Amino acid sequence: MGSWEDFYASHLPPTDFEDNRQLLKQFCEHHIKDENQNIVLVTSGGTIAPLEHNTVRFVDNFSAGSRGSSSAEYFLQNNYAVIFLFRTKSLEPFTRHFSGQQFLDMLEISDNNENSNINVRPDSVDVLLPILTKYKTAQESNRLLYINFTSVSDYLWLLRAACEALAPFERRALLYLAAAVSDFYVPQDDMPKHKIQSGATPKISLQLVPKILKPLVSTWVPNAFVVSFKLETDDSLLIAKSRESLMKYNHKLVIANILQTRRHRVVLVTPTTSEEILMTKEQAHSGLEIEEPIVSEVCKRHEEFLAGAEQ
Ligand code: PMT
Repeated sequence: MGSWEDFYASHLPPTDFEDNRQLLKQFCEHHIKDENQNIVLVTSGGTIAPLEHNTVRFVDNFSAGSRGSSSAEYFLQNNYAVIFLFRTKSLEPFTRHFSGQQFLDMLEISDNNENSNINVRPDSVDVLLPILTKYKTAQESNRLLYINFTSVSDYLWLLRAACEALAPFERRALLYLAAAVSDFYVPQDDMPKHKIQSGATPKISLQLVPKILKPLVSTWVPNAFVVSFKLETDDSLLIAKSRESLMKYNHKLVIANILQTRRHRVVLVTPTTSEEILMTKEQAHSGLEIEEPIVSEVCKRHEEFLAGAEQ
Protein backbone atom coordinates (compact mmCIF):
# COMPACT_ATOMS: atom_id res chain seq x y z
CA MET A 1 0.00 0.00 0.00
CA GLY A 2 1.34 3.46 -0.90
CA SER A 3 1.39 6.16 1.76
CA TRP A 4 -1.38 8.76 1.99
CA GLU A 5 1.17 11.43 0.99
CA ASP A 6 1.88 9.47 -2.22
CA PHE A 7 -1.84 9.25 -2.88
CA TYR A 8 -2.33 13.02 -2.86
CA ALA A 9 0.88 13.57 -4.84
CA SER A 10 -0.22 11.21 -7.62
CA HIS A 11 -3.98 11.93 -7.84
CA LEU A 12 -5.50 15.12 -9.19
CA PRO A 13 -8.26 16.80 -7.18
CA PRO A 14 -11.80 16.79 -8.66
CA THR A 15 -12.45 19.59 -11.17
CA ASP A 16 -14.79 21.52 -8.82
CA PHE A 17 -12.45 21.07 -5.84
CA GLU A 18 -11.57 24.74 -5.34
CA ASP A 19 -15.27 25.77 -5.29
CA ASN A 20 -16.04 23.13 -2.67
CA ARG A 21 -13.02 24.09 -0.59
CA GLN A 22 -14.29 27.68 -0.52
CA LEU A 23 -17.80 26.54 0.49
CA LEU A 24 -16.34 24.48 3.34
CA LYS A 25 -14.19 27.38 4.48
CA GLN A 26 -17.06 29.89 4.41
CA PHE A 27 -19.44 27.54 6.23
CA CYS A 28 -16.91 26.93 9.00
CA GLU A 29 -15.88 30.59 9.27
CA HIS A 30 -19.55 31.51 9.67
CA HIS A 31 -20.23 29.00 12.47
CA ILE A 32 -17.00 29.38 14.42
CA LYS A 33 -18.07 32.90 15.41
CA ASP A 34 -20.64 31.36 17.78
CA GLU A 35 -18.59 29.71 20.51
CA ASN A 36 -21.50 27.50 21.56
CA GLN A 37 -22.02 26.04 18.09
CA ASN A 38 -20.85 22.44 17.66
CA ILE A 39 -20.23 21.15 14.17
CA VAL A 40 -20.27 17.67 12.60
CA LEU A 41 -18.92 16.23 9.38
CA VAL A 42 -21.13 13.33 8.26
CA THR A 43 -19.73 11.21 5.41
CA SER A 44 -22.26 9.10 3.57
CA GLY A 45 -22.63 6.57 0.74
CA GLY A 46 -20.11 4.46 -1.13
CA THR A 47 -17.18 5.56 -3.27
CA ILE A 48 -16.46 4.19 -6.73
CA ALA A 49 -13.06 3.03 -7.98
CA PRO A 50 -12.95 3.87 -11.71
CA LEU A 51 -11.27 1.45 -14.14
CA GLU A 52 -10.72 4.04 -16.92
CA HIS A 53 -9.94 7.79 -16.96
CA ASN A 54 -12.91 8.37 -19.26
CA THR A 55 -14.96 6.27 -16.91
CA VAL A 56 -17.41 3.80 -18.37
CA ARG A 57 -16.82 1.05 -15.81
CA PHE A 58 -16.03 1.16 -12.12
CA VAL A 59 -16.01 -0.94 -8.95
CA ASP A 60 -18.77 0.13 -6.56
CA ASN A 61 -20.21 -1.00 -3.23
CA PHE A 62 -23.61 -1.54 -1.60
CA SER A 63 -23.96 1.64 0.49
CA ALA A 64 -27.21 3.55 -0.14
CA GLY A 65 -26.43 6.45 2.19
CA SER A 66 -29.33 5.67 4.56
CA ARG A 67 -27.18 5.82 7.69
CA GLY A 68 -25.50 9.10 6.78
CA SER A 69 -28.55 10.93 5.44
CA SER A 70 -30.81 10.10 8.39
CA SER A 71 -28.03 10.79 10.90
CA ALA A 72 -27.53 14.25 9.35
CA GLU A 73 -31.18 15.07 10.15
CA TYR A 74 -30.78 13.94 13.76
CA PHE A 75 -27.59 16.01 14.19
CA LEU A 76 -29.55 19.06 13.03
CA GLN A 77 -32.22 18.18 15.58
CA ASN A 78 -29.43 18.17 18.21
CA ASN A 79 -28.45 21.72 17.13
CA TYR A 80 -25.26 20.85 15.27
CA ALA A 81 -24.12 22.62 12.12
CA VAL A 82 -23.77 19.79 9.60
CA ILE A 83 -21.41 19.26 6.68
CA PHE A 84 -22.94 16.43 4.68
CA LEU A 85 -20.24 14.88 2.44
CA PHE A 86 -22.12 12.39 0.29
CA ARG A 87 -21.93 10.23 -2.80
CA THR A 88 -23.75 11.76 -5.78
CA LYS A 89 -27.18 10.13 -6.23
CA SER A 90 -27.14 8.45 -2.83
CA LEU A 91 -29.79 9.34 -0.24
CA GLU A 92 -29.85 12.91 1.08
CA PRO A 93 -31.37 14.38 4.24
CA PHE A 94 -35.08 15.26 3.86
CA THR A 95 -35.53 14.15 0.22
CA ARG A 96 -34.70 10.59 1.36
CA HIS A 97 -38.28 10.35 2.68
CA PHE A 98 -39.71 10.45 -0.85
CA SER A 99 -38.30 7.82 -3.14
CA GLY A 100 -39.48 7.05 -6.68
CA GLN A 101 -43.00 8.21 -7.55
CA GLN A 102 -43.89 8.83 -3.90
CA PHE A 103 -43.38 12.57 -4.14
CA LEU A 104 -45.38 13.02 -7.35
CA ASP A 105 -48.24 11.01 -5.83
CA MET A 106 -48.47 13.63 -3.08
CA LEU A 107 -49.30 16.36 -5.59
CA GLU A 108 -52.39 17.16 -7.65
CA ILE A 109 -53.08 19.53 -10.53
CA SER A 110 -55.97 21.94 -10.39
CA ASP A 111 -57.15 23.61 -13.61
CA ASN A 112 -59.41 26.64 -13.78
CA ASN A 113 -59.23 27.25 -17.56
CA GLU A 114 -56.85 30.22 -17.25
CA ASN A 115 -53.96 28.69 -15.41
CA SER A 116 -52.88 25.45 -13.80
CA ASN A 117 -51.78 25.09 -10.19
CA ILE A 118 -50.01 22.33 -8.33
CA ASN A 119 -51.24 21.57 -4.81
CA VAL A 120 -50.26 19.11 -2.13
CA ARG A 121 -53.02 16.50 -1.73
CA PRO A 122 -54.81 17.14 1.59
CA ASP A 123 -54.01 13.61 2.83
CA SER A 124 -50.26 14.21 2.22
CA VAL A 125 -49.92 17.49 4.11
CA ASP A 126 -49.34 15.72 7.45
CA VAL A 127 -46.44 13.80 5.92
CA LEU A 128 -44.84 16.61 3.94
CA LEU A 129 -45.24 19.54 6.32
CA PRO A 130 -42.96 18.44 9.20
CA ILE A 131 -40.19 17.40 6.79
CA LEU A 132 -40.45 20.58 4.72
CA THR A 133 -40.45 22.68 7.91
CA LYS A 134 -37.25 21.03 9.18
CA TYR A 135 -35.61 21.41 5.77
CA LYS A 136 -36.50 25.10 5.53
CA THR A 137 -35.30 25.74 9.09
CA ALA A 138 -31.94 24.11 8.29
CA GLN A 139 -31.59 26.13 5.08
CA GLU A 140 -32.64 29.45 6.61
CA SER A 141 -30.27 29.07 9.54
CA ASN A 142 -27.47 27.99 7.15
CA ARG A 143 -26.80 24.91 9.26
CA LEU A 144 -26.56 22.32 6.48
CA LEU A 145 -23.90 22.23 3.77
CA TYR A 146 -24.06 19.57 1.03
CA ILE A 147 -20.81 18.54 -0.67
CA ASN A 148 -20.79 15.59 -3.06
CA PHE A 149 -18.24 13.10 -4.41
CA THR A 150 -18.23 10.10 -6.70
CA SER A 151 -14.82 8.42 -6.77
CA VAL A 152 -12.62 7.42 -3.86
CA SER A 153 -10.06 9.97 -5.01
CA ASP A 154 -12.65 12.81 -4.95
CA TYR A 155 -13.71 11.66 -1.50
CA LEU A 156 -10.17 11.72 -0.09
CA TRP A 157 -9.49 15.21 -1.48
CA LEU A 158 -12.74 16.59 -0.06
CA LEU A 159 -12.28 14.84 3.27
CA ARG A 160 -8.91 16.50 3.74
CA ALA A 161 -10.32 19.91 2.73
CA ALA A 162 -13.21 19.45 5.19
CA CYS A 163 -10.73 18.62 7.96
CA GLU A 164 -8.68 21.74 7.18
CA ALA A 165 -11.82 23.85 7.52
CA LEU A 166 -12.90 22.06 10.73
CA ALA A 167 -9.54 22.10 12.54
CA PRO A 168 -10.08 25.55 14.17
CA PHE A 169 -13.16 24.17 16.00
CA GLU A 170 -10.77 21.88 17.88
CA ARG A 171 -12.83 19.77 20.37
CA ARG A 172 -16.15 21.20 19.14
CA ALA A 173 -15.73 19.34 15.84
CA LEU A 174 -17.27 15.89 15.55
CA LEU A 175 -16.42 13.58 12.65
CA TYR A 176 -18.95 10.84 11.93
CA LEU A 177 -17.42 8.73 9.17
CA ALA A 178 -20.30 6.58 7.92
CA ALA A 179 -19.26 6.41 4.25
CA ALA A 180 -18.28 3.02 2.87
CA VAL A 181 -14.92 3.97 1.39
CA SER A 182 -13.40 1.71 -1.29
CA ASP A 183 -10.58 -0.41 0.09
CA PHE A 184 -9.18 -1.17 -3.38
CA TYR A 185 -8.65 1.00 -6.44
CA VAL A 186 -6.69 1.40 -9.67
CA PRO A 187 -4.16 4.26 -9.26
CA GLN A 188 -4.59 7.04 -11.84
CA ASP A 189 -1.16 6.31 -13.39
CA ASP A 190 -2.13 2.66 -14.03
CA MET A 191 -5.49 3.42 -15.62
CA PRO A 192 -6.12 3.38 -19.39
CA LYS A 193 -7.31 6.69 -20.81
CA HIS A 194 -10.17 5.23 -22.83
CA LYS A 195 -12.84 2.59 -22.40
CA ILE A 196 -11.34 -0.90 -22.00
CA GLN A 197 -12.14 -2.82 -25.18
CA SER A 198 -14.17 -5.98 -24.83
CA GLY A 199 -12.08 -8.12 -27.25
CA ALA A 200 -9.64 -9.59 -24.74
CA THR A 201 -10.00 -10.54 -21.06
CA PRO A 202 -8.79 -7.48 -19.14
CA LYS A 203 -6.21 -7.90 -16.40
CA ILE A 204 -7.11 -5.45 -13.67
CA SER A 205 -4.79 -5.08 -10.73
CA LEU A 206 -6.31 -3.35 -7.72
CA GLN A 207 -4.17 -1.70 -5.05
CA LEU A 208 -4.96 -0.90 -1.43
CA VAL A 209 -6.30 2.57 -0.69
CA PRO A 210 -4.19 4.13 2.10
CA LYS A 211 -6.01 4.22 5.46
CA ILE A 212 -6.83 7.87 5.83
CA LEU A 213 -7.93 7.68 9.47
CA LYS A 214 -4.27 7.75 10.45
CA PRO A 215 -3.36 11.30 9.30
CA LEU A 216 -6.90 12.46 10.00
CA VAL A 217 -6.76 11.62 13.72
CA SER A 218 -3.10 12.33 14.37
CA THR A 219 -2.53 15.44 12.23
CA TRP A 220 -5.51 17.00 10.44
CA VAL A 221 -8.01 17.32 13.33
CA PRO A 222 -6.02 16.11 16.36
CA ASN A 223 -8.42 17.68 18.89
CA ALA A 224 -11.71 16.62 17.33
CA PHE A 225 -14.08 13.87 18.48
CA VAL A 226 -13.66 11.25 15.75
CA VAL A 227 -16.18 8.44 15.29
CA SER A 228 -15.55 5.78 12.64
CA PHE A 229 -17.76 2.91 11.52
CA LYS A 230 -16.81 -0.72 11.14
CA LEU A 231 -18.75 -2.96 8.80
CA GLU A 232 -18.31 -6.73 8.87
CA THR A 233 -20.28 -9.71 7.61
CA ASP A 234 -18.89 -12.13 10.24
CA ASP A 235 -20.21 -11.27 13.71
CA SER A 236 -17.35 -13.06 15.47
CA LEU A 237 -14.87 -10.48 14.08
CA LEU A 238 -16.87 -7.34 14.79
CA ILE A 239 -15.72 -6.24 18.25
CA ALA A 240 -12.11 -7.40 17.82
CA LYS A 241 -11.75 -5.50 14.52
CA SER A 242 -13.32 -2.39 16.05
CA ARG A 243 -10.88 -2.46 18.99
CA GLU A 244 -8.00 -3.05 16.57
CA SER A 245 -9.03 0.10 14.70
CA LEU A 246 -9.23 2.12 17.96
CA MET A 247 -5.75 0.93 18.97
CA LYS A 248 -4.28 1.69 15.56
CA TYR A 249 -5.77 5.14 15.03
CA ASN A 250 -6.38 6.27 18.58
CA HIS A 251 -9.76 7.88 17.95
CA LYS A 252 -12.74 8.00 20.31
CA LEU A 253 -15.40 5.59 19.16
CA VAL A 254 -16.17 2.90 16.60
CA ILE A 255 -19.77 2.15 15.65
CA ALA A 256 -19.78 -1.48 14.63
CA ASN A 257 -22.41 -3.06 12.42
CA ILE A 258 -23.12 -6.21 10.43
CA LEU A 259 -24.25 -5.84 6.81
CA GLN A 260 -27.55 -7.72 7.15
CA THR A 261 -28.62 -6.34 10.55
CA ARG A 262 -27.32 -2.78 10.28
CA ARG A 263 -30.78 -1.21 10.34
CA HIS A 264 -31.68 -2.58 13.78
CA ARG A 265 -28.43 -3.34 15.63
CA VAL A 266 -25.14 -1.49 16.17
CA VAL A 267 -22.50 -1.69 18.90
CA LEU A 268 -20.73 1.41 20.20
CA VAL A 269 -17.18 0.29 20.94
CA THR A 270 -14.46 2.10 22.94
CA PRO A 271 -11.15 0.60 24.10
CA THR A 272 -12.81 -0.55 27.34
CA THR A 273 -16.58 -0.69 26.74
CA SER A 274 -19.14 -1.91 24.25
CA GLU A 275 -22.77 -0.83 24.25
CA GLU A 276 -25.41 -2.30 21.99
CA ILE A 277 -28.23 -0.26 20.46
CA LEU A 278 -31.07 -2.52 19.39
CA MET A 279 -34.41 -1.74 17.78
CA THR A 280 -37.37 -4.03 18.19
CA LYS A 281 -39.68 -4.89 15.27
CA GLU A 282 -42.42 -2.83 16.95
CA GLN A 283 -40.14 0.22 17.16
CA ALA A 284 -39.19 -0.15 13.49
CA HIS A 285 -42.86 -0.48 12.47
CA SER A 286 -43.77 2.62 14.45
CA GLY A 287 -41.30 4.59 12.29
CA LEU A 288 -38.39 4.87 14.74
CA GLU A 289 -35.01 4.87 12.99
CA ILE A 290 -31.93 3.44 14.70
CA GLU A 291 -29.98 6.59 13.79
CA GLU A 292 -32.04 8.59 16.30
CA PRO A 293 -30.66 6.75 19.40
CA ILE A 294 -27.21 6.41 17.76
CA VAL A 295 -26.91 10.17 17.16
CA SER A 296 -28.32 11.02 20.57
CA GLU A 297 -25.70 8.77 22.25
CA VAL A 298 -22.88 10.19 20.09
CA CYS A 299 -23.92 13.77 20.96
CA LYS A 300 -24.02 12.85 24.65
CA ARG A 301 -20.49 11.44 24.47
CA HIS A 302 -19.27 14.50 22.57
CA GLU A 303 -20.77 16.74 25.29
CA GLU A 304 -18.99 14.69 27.99
CA PHE A 305 -15.74 15.02 26.05
CA LEU A 306 -16.22 18.81 25.87
CA ALA A 307 -17.12 19.02 29.55
CA GLY A 308 -14.02 16.93 30.42
CA ALA A 309 -11.81 19.54 28.76
CA GLU A 310 -13.27 22.33 30.91
CA GLN A 311 -12.54 20.63 34.24
O1 PMT B 1 -25.24 3.59 3.62
P1 PMT B 1 -26.03 2.46 4.26
O2 PMT B 1 -26.57 1.54 3.20
O3 PMT B 1 -27.06 2.96 5.23
O4 PMT B 1 -24.97 1.58 5.11
C1 PMT B 1 -24.33 2.13 6.22
C2 PMT B 1 -22.89 1.56 6.37
C3 PMT B 1 -22.97 0.06 6.59
C4 PMT B 1 -22.08 1.85 5.10
C5 PMT B 1 -22.23 2.26 7.60
O5 PMT B 1 -22.99 1.97 8.75
C6 PMT B 1 -20.79 1.77 7.80
O6 PMT B 1 -20.51 0.79 8.47
N1 PMT B 1 -19.80 2.51 7.18
C7 PMT B 1 -18.35 2.16 7.20
C8 PMT B 1 -18.13 0.92 6.35
C9 PMT B 1 -16.68 0.72 6.03
O7 PMT B 1 -16.31 1.05 4.96
O8 PMT B 1 -15.90 0.23 6.96
P2 PMT B 1 -14.31 -0.03 6.71
O9 PMT B 1 -13.96 -1.15 7.56
O10 PMT B 1 -13.95 -0.14 5.27
O11 PMT B 1 -13.66 1.33 7.21
C10 PMT B 1 -13.59 1.61 8.58
C11 PMT B 1 -13.37 3.10 8.78
O12 PMT B 1 -12.12 3.46 8.18
C12 PMT B 1 -14.47 3.93 8.16
O13 PMT B 1 -15.00 4.81 9.13
C13 PMT B 1 -13.80 4.71 7.04
O14 PMT B 1 -14.18 6.08 7.08
C14 PMT B 1 -12.30 4.59 7.38
N2 PMT B 1 -11.48 4.39 6.17
C15 PMT B 1 -11.83 3.49 5.24
C16 PMT B 1 -11.05 3.32 4.10
C17 PMT B 1 -9.90 4.13 3.98
N3 PMT B 1 -9.12 4.04 2.92
N4 PMT B 1 -9.57 5.01 4.90
C18 PMT B 1 -10.32 5.13 5.99
O15 PMT B 1 -9.98 5.93 6.85
